[in-house]
Amino acid sequence: MKVAVVGATGMVGEVMLKVLAERNFPITELLLVASERSVGKKLTFKNKEYTVIGLAEAVAAKPQIAIFSAGGDTSLEWAPKFAEVGTTVVDNSSAWRMDPTKKLVVPEINAHELTKDDKIIANPNCSTIQMVLALSQLHKKYKMKRVVVSTYQSVSGTGVKAVRQLENEIAGIEGEMAYPYPISRNVLPHCDVFLENGYTKEEMKLAREPQKIFNDKSFSVTATAVRVPTAGGHSESVNVQFENDFDLADVRQIISETPGVILQDNTAINSYPMPILAHNKDEVFVGRLRRDESQPNTLNMWIVADNLRKGAATNAIQIGEYLVENNLI
Ligand SMILES: NC(=O)c1ccc[n+]([C@@H]2O[C@H](COP(=O)([O-])OP(=O)(O)OC[C@H]3O[C@@H](n4cnc5c(N)ncnc54)[C@H](OP(=O)(O)O)[C@@H]3O)[C@@H](O)[C@H]2O)c1
Repeated sequence: MKVAVVGATGMVGEVMLKVLAERNFPITELLLVASERSVGKKLTFKNKEYTVIGLAEAVAAKPQIAIFSAGGDTSLEWAPKFAEVGTTVVDNSSAWRMDPTKKLVVPEINAHELTKDDKIIANPNCSTIQMVLALSQLHKKYKMKRVVVSTYQSVSGTGVKAVRQLENEIAGIEGEMAYPYPISRNVLPHCDVFLENGYTKEEMKLAREPQKIFNDKSFSVTATAVRVPTAGGHSESVNVQFENDFDLADVRQIISETPGVILQDNTAINSYPMPILAHNKDEVFVGRLRRDESQPNTLNMWIVADNLRKGAATNAIQIGEYLVENNLI
C-alpha cells in the first residue's frame, strides 16, 4: 500500500506516524507531506528517515490512500486532486464532514456504509468521536432524545502553536499566542470561531455530526465547548435523556461491552476517567455514571479520550484498515 500522510509535521501527523507503526499498517511506500515550509525536512518512521515532500509531488506519486490532517483549506483544495488520480482520502479536517455526498465515519458505528466509490471520507471532530462512541450502544437500546454536552478540551486540540503557548506561559516566556487570552491558569469558553448564532464552530460540530454518524435525526444535541489548560486529552460532561427508561446496572454492562470503550466507574476507589490516564490510549473512557434526578430517563456521564488518538489519528487509521480489509481501495 502506497500511503501518504498529509500534515505529517503537525500534532496529529506525528501521532499518525506513531499509530501507523504500532498497528503495522500494510505500507510498502510512505510519502510524508507538509507545506512548502517543511519540504526537505527529515522525519523518521520505523527507524527509517524520510524527506518531507510537497502536495503536488505527492499527487503525482498516486498513493492508494492519503490521510490528511493539514487543515480545512488544504483539504478543500487538495483532497479532490488526490481523488482524481484514484487515491482514497481520509480527512481529519472539518472541510467535508457535513457534505451530504461524503461519509462521516466512526468505524465501530458506521464503517459498513463505506464503498469503493467513497474517495473522500471524513473523520469526525475529536470531541464528537468520543461522545458518539460512548453513547452508541446505549442509543441502540434506550434511544437518545436529547444530549447536553459541556467539553473540557486540551490545548493539543488546537495544534502545535497552542501547545507552545501553554508551555511558554508555564515557563514564564513571552511568545506567540494561539488564543486571544492566556490559557495557563485560565479556562476559555471558546473553541474554534464564533458563529452568527452565538455558538462556536466546535459547538455546532458537536450538535450536527452525531445525527449524520448515526444516520438518525430523531435526537438533538446542544453543546458548550471549553478550552482548559491540559496538554492532551479531551473530557466531556454529558447529560443524555433517553426515550426509554434504563437500568443503571444495564447501562454499566452495555458501556463495558461497547467496542473501543472502557468503563472506569468506581467512586469507592476514586476511579474515574481523566486525561492523564487516557494519554496515549486508543480507547474512550467512561465513568461517573449516575441518574439525573431532575428529570426522567436521563443519565449523567463523564467521557475522556486522547484527542490526538481516537479523536484523530487512530480513528482515521481504523478507517484505512477497514478499507484495506474489505478490498475497498
Ligand atoms: N489536534 C487535534 O486534536 C485534532 C483532532 C482532530 C482533527 N484535527 C484536525 O487535523 C488538522 C491538523 O491539526 P494539528 O493539530 O495537527 O495542527 P498542526 O499541529 O498545526 O499541524 C498542521 C499540519 O498541516 C500542515 N499544513 C498546514 N498548511 C499546509 C498547506 N498549505 N499545505 C500542506 N500542509 C499544510 C502543516 O505543515 P507545516 O509543518 O509545513 O506547516 C502541519 O503538518 C486540522 O485540520 C485539525 O482540525 C486536529
